[in-house]
Amino acid sequence: MAKYRIARIPGDDSGHDVMEACMIALEPLGLDVEWVDADAGWCMWEKYGNTVPEKTWEVLRSTDCCLFGSITSRPNVPGFKSAILQIRQGMDLYCNLRPVKAYKGVPLNYRDDIDMVIFRENTEGLYSGLDYDQIPDEALALKAVKEKLGDVLPDEASMSIRLFTRKACRRIAVSAFEYANKYGRKRVTAVHKANVIRATCGMFLEEARKVAENYPEIEYEEQNVDATAMWLIKNPEWYDVLVTTNMFGDIISDEAAQLVGGLGFSSSGNIGDEYALFEPTHGSAPKYAGQYRLNPTAMILSAKLMLEWLGEMEMASRLEGGIIKVLERLNPNEVTYDLGGSATSLEMARAIADAIEQS
Ligand code: IPM
Ligand code: MG
Repeated sequence: MAKYRIARIPGDDSGHDVMEACMIALEPLGLDVEWVDADAGWCMWEKYGNTVPEKTWEVLRSTDCCLFGSITSRPNVPGFKSAILQIRQGMDLYCNLRPVKAYKGVPLNYRDDIDMVIFRENTEGLYSGLDYDQIPDEALALKAVKEKLGDVLPDEASMSIRLFTRKACRRIAVSAFEYANKYGRKRVTAVHKANVIRATCGMFLEEARKVAENYPEIEYEEQNVDATAMWLIKNPEWYDVLVTTNMFGDIISDEAAQLVGGLGFSSSGNIGDEYALFEPTHGSAPKYAGQYRLNPTAMILSAKLMLEWLGEMEMASRLEGGIIKVLERLNPNEVTYDLGGSATSLEMARAIADAIEQS
């Protein structure tokens, strides 16, 4: 029996291309794994009217973790629910870990010494799914809602509830500080908007402060999200570990990714207490499906996060080492178009695998 059983879900369109590339890059590591293939996303919606069919849940429930490509969503499809949001919430993967690191040689790097990790709460906030396209009667029972509406009719308004629990605020803060502690990071910045969204962001900060007290050797600071958006451009080297709520994390992680070459470099882990899923944060680029055009680095770096989560530290660092080599020499035959090269996703992955083998 293999040491690990890992779910492999390529998703849709270019998700398949980067997953195939990732398998090439993993090859020389000799990971003792049984891959368990499953499907999720638009492909399953078309087939079953359900982006995550029951047999996919079964695979998720019976494996050690999941490696995930990317999925296609289409707007204005009644009843459609994003597969990744369903899996994050359904498997209680409350911590979204997004490293942002400038690799030497990447021409699109904004600065050379950027190296931060964003912790995004991954199950609630504005993503709770409490979305109403008109104001429901229960909400009208709140005096404050009625007053705010004034003479606007309930069906001329909509509302999305930003629900926070103390438990979720606490565990995302613990995740960030535990990570900082484990990887020798110096500072945790809690990103919020508590001057306006007082109740929810206030609770988020209260919990972060309590957790911070348990880590006196790690500096703790708080920053308004609008200021963070600005300071990320002005002084990105300052940031070390950031911890924030779901939607703020969604936004600032894309902003931060662009500082280090864009979404082609942006890996992530969706981590819970028992299970984790690793995915690049880019989309499935439907128009390039099957053309192997995407930079596979984000996908391969996601596999590196998976290896770390499994405790396979040496393999993780060998994998990253291969990426570092290929990026440093930036041979146009070995890198994808976003890096000025002409290689396909598979050719770039092959170059990374060769670099690992040669080291
Ligand atoms: C991300 C993506 C998702 C999100 C979408 C695809 C639902 O933007 O992982 O950042 O908003 O969380
Ligand atoms: Mg996003």
